[in-house]
Amino acid sequence: MEIVLSGIRSTGNLHLGNYYGAVRNFVKMQHNYNCYFFIADLHSLTTHPKPGDWKANVKQILCEYLAAGIDPEVATIYVQSDIPEIAELYLILNMLAYKGELERTTSFKDKVRQNPDNVNAGLLTYPVLMAADILIHRANKVPVGKDQEQHLEMTRNFASRFNNMYGNDFFPLPTAFNFGSDLIKIPGLDGTGKMGKSDGNGIYLADDAKTVEKKVMRAVTDSGPTHKGQKMPEPIRNIFTILEVVSEPDVVKYFKEQYHECTIRYGDLKKQLAKDINLSIDPIRERIKQYLSDDAYLRKVTKMGQEKARESAIKTLKGVREIIGITGF
Ligand code: TRP
Repeated sequence: MEIVLSGIRSTGNLHLGNYYGAVRNFVKMQHNYNCYFFIADLHSLTTHPKPGDWKANVKQILCEYLAAGIDPEVATIYVQSDIPEIAELYLILNMLAYKGELERTTSFKDKVRQNPDNVNAGLLTYPVLMAADILIHRANKVPVGKDQEQHLEMTRNFASRFNNMYGNDFFPLPTAFNFGSDLIKIPGLDGTGKMGKSDGNGIYLADDAKTVEKKVMRAVTDSGPTHKGQKMPEPIRNIFTILEVVSEPDVVKYFKEQYHECTIRYGDLKKQLAKDINLSIDPIRERIKQYLSDDAYLRKVTKMGQEKARESAIKTLKGVREIIGITGF
């Protein structure tokens, strides 16, 4: 069975875009592939978070993924820092990564521009740690967004460099997993583009009903259609796109007709949208709360994930050591 691996940032909670986009596909995928989902907490050390923040961040993300339907009995869900073999593979891969190519990485250049006072080596070698995450399970497929494609390409480069250097094909070259038409793109509420982390544009699974309502009521619209059958401009189309995901078809049809007849009241549309978003995420919100209050269960899940992930990681690292010639006496 093909191995699929996905890394999840340990900062940044799930928003509707993540949920209806990648995460729902992960939930389906776990039954068809050997899936590893891990929380990339070591990557977040590049920004030097406070010690107390670690637990809250990792816990929140873990609970959100469980609540969204990742089944720890089916997939392997684990925390990166629970697998010491990743750090060792990272060290080994660092010997195959060139300073020049790391400096040319788009994400690195962006970070340098944003934080010129914190250009640490961890930031420079971020793609090497990501390669270690992927190669430690010799994964075949990695679901990534556009912003991570360059990192995946670098992973392939490191892997094939290793294979060539030692004359074997130990590491498969991982490719991007594309959900194709299964990937629903949720637009933001600020009128343009997709839902992201920027303020005012995202609705989070952890938001309470009131917050959802407030955010939806603030969504960008226009002064309304002026003639029948008018084409929708982007901000209005975006609202309808979300409505189509969370509401019943007859509700969508009703408001579309109202728009085309120029009788639409955006206030009503938004109230309906807020109500239906809340209905659709209520059960997830409930489950997130339950998981958050059950440390014993979370301990069990992370321990089980660690055991499964380490079994595969230890196997890979043993192979790597043998190939390099670290074999003892
Ligand atoms: N860099 C990824 C992001 O920012 C997270 C990540 C870390 C990852 N390691 C990974 C993703 C390995 C896929 C595979 O979203």
